Amino acid sequence: MQIQRLSPNFGAEVHAIDLNQISDEQFAQIEKAFLDHQLLVFKKQALSPAAQIDFSRRFGELDVHVLTQYNHPQHEEIFVLSNVVENGKPIGISDGGSYWHSDFAFQERPASATILNAQQIPEQGGQTLFIDMYQAYEDLSQEYKQRLQGLQAIHRYRSRRSNQEAGTQVKLNQDQEKATPDMVHPVVRTHVQTGRKALFVHPGMAAEIVGLSEQESNEILSFLFDHSTQEKYQYAFSWTPGDVVMWDNRCTMHKATTRDLPAHMHRTIFRTTVRGERPV
Ligand SMILES: [Fe+2]
Repeated sequence: MQIQRLSPNFGAEVHAIDLNQISDEQFAQIEKAFLDHQLLVFKKQALSPAAQIDFSRRFGELDVHVLTQYNHPQHEEIFVLSNVVENGKPIGISDGGSYWHSDFAFQERPASATILNAQQIPEQGGQTLFIDMYQAYEDLSQEYKQRLQGLQAIHRYRSRRSNQEAGTQVKLNQDQEKATPDMVHPVVRTHVQTGRKALFVHPGMAAEIVGLSEQESNEILSFLFDHSTQEKYQYAFSWTPGDVVMWDNRCTMHKATTRDLPAHMHRTIFRTTVRGERPV
């Protein structure tokens, strides 16, 4: 197994490993790399759906997406991201996550890891953008860190405070609405495995700060969103066939660009999501 940095700040590419069958020792190396680099890209994989589930389960219990219409017909743990239409029916969600977010931040126990397994990748387009939320936090002034201490934010599925962060076209049915009530999490969370602090408010889902006036809440969120989405914290990942990508939602956020992908450029990716701990 070889590890190569993707950018000066975060992210790494992993070569010479087959995720279909990994030893406990290899898993320990992967887990360490995952915690060190926040974003891992495994090149030249041919990971089967069952093996993707097995690999993902090594990191913890898997979550099943609330938009059940896009879950894999044989494996409910796999959420299908796709713009392919078969027999008049979309096989997956075509415009999911086209806004800055952290997976399942609207749940009591947000995702720790997300694992994406490329099935079909177009020649170009469909990049996934990532942000390093450790660095975004670390670069705040001491005064501002102090100001954020103890603050909590309300996370709401499809909050989309800003116009640029328009959500998916998919509408929730009543049961799905009920399954996604407002959730409160600390604005700064401490990663349970690394002990490092990271910002945990995302333009796509953080709606307001608890207990502050609307004006003060807006002021803080706008500042944090402008600060954390600066280009210096970003990494733009371009997909190639065979890629398996995993990231740590506790210290990164991400955004899809699939909305800009023309319909004839087919792209299908299988997603598994590991349930994390309640943020502290
Ligand atoms: Fe996502």
